[in-house]
Parts: sequence; C-alpha cells; structure tokens
Amino acid sequence: MAMSPLTLLLVAIAAIAAPLAYGACNGEASLKGVANDVLWEYGLPKGLVPDSVTSYTFINATGDFKIQLASSCYVWFGDHYTYFDKNLSGTMSYGAISNLSGIQAKKLFFWVSISSMVARPERGMIEFHAGFVSEDVPISLFENVPVCGNGVGGQFRGAAGVIREMNVLPVAEV
Ligand SMILES: *[C@@H]1O[C@H](CO)[C@@H](O)[C@H](O)[C@H]1NC(C)=O
Ligand SMILES: *[C@@H]1O[C@H](CO)[C@@H](O)[C@H](O)[C@H]1NC(C)=O
Ligand SMILES: *[C@@H]1O[C@H](CO)[C@@H](O)[C@H](O)[C@H]1NC(C)=O
Repeated sequence: MAMSPLTLLLVAIAAIAAPLAYGACNGEASLKGVANDVLWEYGLPKGLVPDSVTSYTFINATGDFKIQLASSCYVWFGDHYTYFDKNLSGTMSYGAISNLSGIQAKKLFFWVSISSMVARPERGMIEFHAGFVSEDVPISLFENVPVCGNGVGGQFRGAAGVIREMNVLPVAEV
C-alpha cells in the first residue's frame, strides 16, 4: 500500500531529524566545533575550551553561555594544570569572558578559580583574573583545542604535551 503524503512527510522529517538527534550523542566533533567557534567569533582563542563538549547553550542577546563537558577534566597549559568542571558557565562579550564558573588553575599547591579573562591581542596575550590578581598568558597557547585529560596518574595526552613545551604559567598568580 502506498504511503499517504502525510506519512511521507513524517518519514522525511524523521530521516532529517534522526542524524541531529544522534549528533547530540556521538557527534561531539560538531558540538565542540560550535562552542569553540563561538569563542573565535568573539575574539577569543578556540583552545580555551577542551575537546569534550557534549552540550552547549549560548544566548546571543546577553552573551550568557553554558557548556557541559563529557566529564570534568585536566589540561596542561604551560607547566601547570588547569581543571575544567563538567559544567562551565559565564558571560561572553567581544574579547572577554566574565562571571566565569568552572575553571581552576593550579598554583603551587592551590587551585584558584578563574573568574574572568580579557584578550589583549595588541600584546598577543590573554589576561586571566582570579579574584584580585591577574596574569598575562600568550594567546598562542590556546590556539589549538586541547584534548581532555582525566588527571589519573598524571598522564596527559595529545595537545597537552605540545602546549607544555612552551613552559609558560597558565593563569593568575595568587
Ligand atoms: C548576536 O548579537 C550581536 C551583538 O551582540 C549581533 O550583532 C548579532 O547580529 C547577533 N546575532 C544573532 C544571530 O542574533
Ligand atoms: C551540571 O549541570 C546539570 C544541568 O545543567 C546538572 O544536572 C548537573 O548536576 C551539573 N553537574 C555538576 C557536576 O555540577
Ligand atoms: C554569574 O553566574 C552565576 C552562575 O555561575 C549566575 O547564577 C549569576 O546570575 C551570574 N551573575 C551575573 C551578574 O551574570
């Protein structure tokens, strides 16, 4: 029996919708691309957020964003750990992120929360703020989207090793 036009339409919609629905599960490449590309559009380097984004919302009107990673993770920027919560949030404006939540940097024995950052492209730097202190870090360290490490056994993979060679402290001094 032939399908009615409505059935055909529904089948067609299902065929289009199915890959999108799957995209949320296994299409991390496209999802992480979205979040990292928005950073880029806002004058910030893509590599500020690791490669394991699983969901992402951005309200263009306010600049508020929420990013969910597959899990919390650790990334080397320079010589020290940076820790990413599973949930990240903040407010993006051109060249800056404020009210940031979910990113910490290890300074000696302490983890400090990064509260905001401002790109200073004229100096090739990003200024990271943790409370009242700030530190400039070369933008070049964040050009490539880093691979998430799980922090177990101090083993870090992929981009982490490359970034580490540059031997620059990542974030704000305390
Ligand atoms: C997003 O907001 C910017 C200004 O904040 C505006 O220029 C742009 O057109 C907006 N884009 C969309 C898709 O609404
Ligand atoms: C992350 O956010 C989701 C919803 O936005 C929440 O259900 C979950 O508990 C949060 N996880 C953590 C570790 O904060
Ligand atoms: C800052 O972020 C928190 C969530 O981390 C949110 O509850 C709060 O409303 C935000 N504050 C501003 C001024 O945007």
